[in-house]
Amino acid sequence: MKLISDKKELLSHLNSKKVESGTLGLVPTMGALHEGHLSLVQKALAENERIVVTIFVNPTQFNNTEDLKKYPKTLKADLALLEGLSENITVFAPAVEELYNEDIVSKQYSFDGLDKVMEGEFRGGHFNGVATIVEMLFDLIRPDKAYFGEKDFQQLQVVTRLSESLPFKVEVIGCPIVRETNGLAMSSRNSLLSEQMRMKAGLIYRTLKEVKRMFGTENATTISEYVSRVFASEQDMKLEYFQIADVQTLTPMIRKQKNRKYRGFIAVYAEGVRLIDNIAVN
Ligand code: PAF
Repeated sequence: MKLISDKKELLSHLNSKKVESGTLGLVPTMGALHEGHLSLVQKALAENERIVVTIFVNPTQFNNTEDLKKYPKTLKADLALLEGLSENITVFAPAVEELYNEDIVSKQYSFDGLDKVMEGEFRGGHFNGVATIVEMLFDLIRPDKAYFGEKDFQQLQVVTRLSESLPFKVEVIGCPIVRETNGLAMSSRNSLLSEQMRMKAGLIYRTLKEVKRMFGTENATTISEYVSRVFASEQDMKLEYFQIADVQTLTPMIRKQKNRKYRGFIAVYAEGVRLIDNIAVN
């Protein structure tokens, strides 16, 4: 494993390792690595000759400065986790100025509404920030494949659309959600929860499993009312949104359409920490 924080050094390192055959994989992260990230890294290692793991807390995707300040930063522990995995990993962990120079702003994109609902509605400008950093990383690293977790399913769809619009051919690969033993989706933010809440937050996945069961017989309104009731009775958890949406367009499901795939999407504040999750319902 090699750690690099400078763009030029990264490019010369990648060029020196270029081989005729074999692909380059990219796993973009914001650090505070957990088993979910490691599953992306393992898949990328299995499918590519060499991989780059980026560790960069991207300021432009945060619409709330407190949230950015609180975001866990654990570079030393992250490197220790990656160290033993393979010598074919390059870790790129730049400072903010290295990528953004003086202008810490997002580019403006349009993703046909994919970026306007759910996360896009509640975190204004979030996907412009995500797309800005992902485009920068694709442009700089020019990977053949890039790996993103399905926990951020909306991000996965936005990044797929972004990649289709860019001149570099990057295959975007979605990877399944990895869960803690109580079902809580693995997230860097889980480390901000008390032990007690970390156990209790398994309620989010239990609710989504019930949503999936109800989907066979109930309509979207009845299911949404059920989810609202579950969280209304929890003092330290607050439902921000629940939505059943079409997986391709991310538009809310009004009536079930044959041959369409849907997912239930949820965002909950637990002890003030924002957690998201989703489940395929058909
Ligand atoms: O999913 C994340 O951790 C981030 O949104 C990403 C894709 C690394 C961009 O900063």
